[in-house]
Amino acid sequence: MSNVTSKKLFTPGPLGCTRTVKEAMLRDVGSRDAEMIDVIRDIREELLDVAGVSSKEYTAVLMQGSGTFCVEAVFQTACPRQGARVLLMINGAYGKRMKTICDRLGIAADCCEFREDEMVDPLKVEEQLRAGGGDYCLAAAVHCETSSGVVNPVGELGRLVAERLPGALYLVDAMSSLGAVPLDAAAARADFVVSSANKCLQGVPGFSFVLARRGPLRRCEGNSRSLSLDLAQQAEGLDALGQFRFTPPTHALLAFRQALREFQLEGGVPARARRYRENWRILQEGMSAMGFRKLLSGKGEGYIISTYHFPRHRNFSFDHFYASLSEMGQVIYPGKVTQADCFRIGNIGDLHPQDMAHLLRCIEEVLARMAVPVPVP
Ligand SMILES: Cc1ncc(COP(=O)(O)O)c(C=O)c1O
Repeated sequence: MSNVTSKKLFTPGPLGCTRTVKEAMLRDVGSRDAEMIDVIRDIREELLDVAGVSSKEYTAVLMQGSGTFCVEAVFQTACPRQGARVLLMINGAYGKRMKTICDRLGIAADCCEFREDEMVDPLKVEEQLRAGGGDYCLAAAVHCETSSGVVNPVGELGRLVAERLPGALYLVDAMSSLGAVPLDAAAARADFVVSSANKCLQGVPGFSFVLARRGPLRRCEGNSRSLSLDLAQQAEGLDALGQFRFTPPTHALLAFRQALREFQLEGGVPARARRYRENWRILQEGMSAMGFRKLLSGKGEGYIISTYHFPRHRNFSFDHFYASLSEMGQVIYPGKVTQADCFRIGNIGDLHPQDMAHLLRCIEEVLARMAVPVPVP
């Protein structure tokens, strides 16, 4: 174990985090201990601050498990057991995953689908709703569709939902954007904003959370078919006792409190956005100079993750490219869009401009070793 070093993760997650965040986990704290109750309280308060929402209107509900657990918990909690129908605005894998969740739960879902390289278009959603829609209890959209990198106009979509579907609650999956891409949850009329500890807030994996509007959450009591994914009961437990109902991820919580301190020291959302934007700019310039073609072209393109087409050259093999970079300590990610052969490079987590520049040098070296000419065809 002595020579084990961390690789740099240019992925959508898990993401690299600072040594100090990892060091915060080197202590055991009892789950019912006053210190852990303080940690949980601090995190819940701080998350509302990160999202810029008031504690009068919203509450932060922490839940064991990765981001998908919280997304599923929202469907469990927001949809009545009988006759629920939802509207899903989909332009990628994470929107499609919501459909899978609904299918598993027996929730009827109408989908407003878009291409994976396009934003969800509020005008087209409105057109579809005019043509006829159901009596929806929930509408849902993804903020940054991490499968491609496209950022959806969740504010406009929220206003549309409020206007056209006054009976529906609104879920925003802000998994890969919260803390780094500005989101005015209250102006978007979002009732549930979901994110996870190990994305742009740079904690370690282990739990996710929902910023939930208090009134609607209370009204959802009794809906959940699942005991462990019942957000209303989880919120009740957290409010009444300051504790998780079931064994909490204590070490991940300690790490997250440290990650939030580092987030504030860095300068909050504007500073994190600035660093990620700069990482992204360096990546774009370097990849473009090497001839790589992006999947997205302008509209809706975010600065969290980028998708590139495979070079068209017989010597290029993604598996070989990936493995060679990994041997050099640089972990990139396979593509997740269905319409093209692509790979992804993320620039979030504990990554800095010098890391992006180093990755570009490694990519150039691997292409040379593979005898793929630069600029790539
Ligand atoms: C937008 C979005 N939604 C949902 C998820 C699922 O989160 P997890 O893999 O933590 O379950 C991810 C993961 O990257 C994501 O980016």
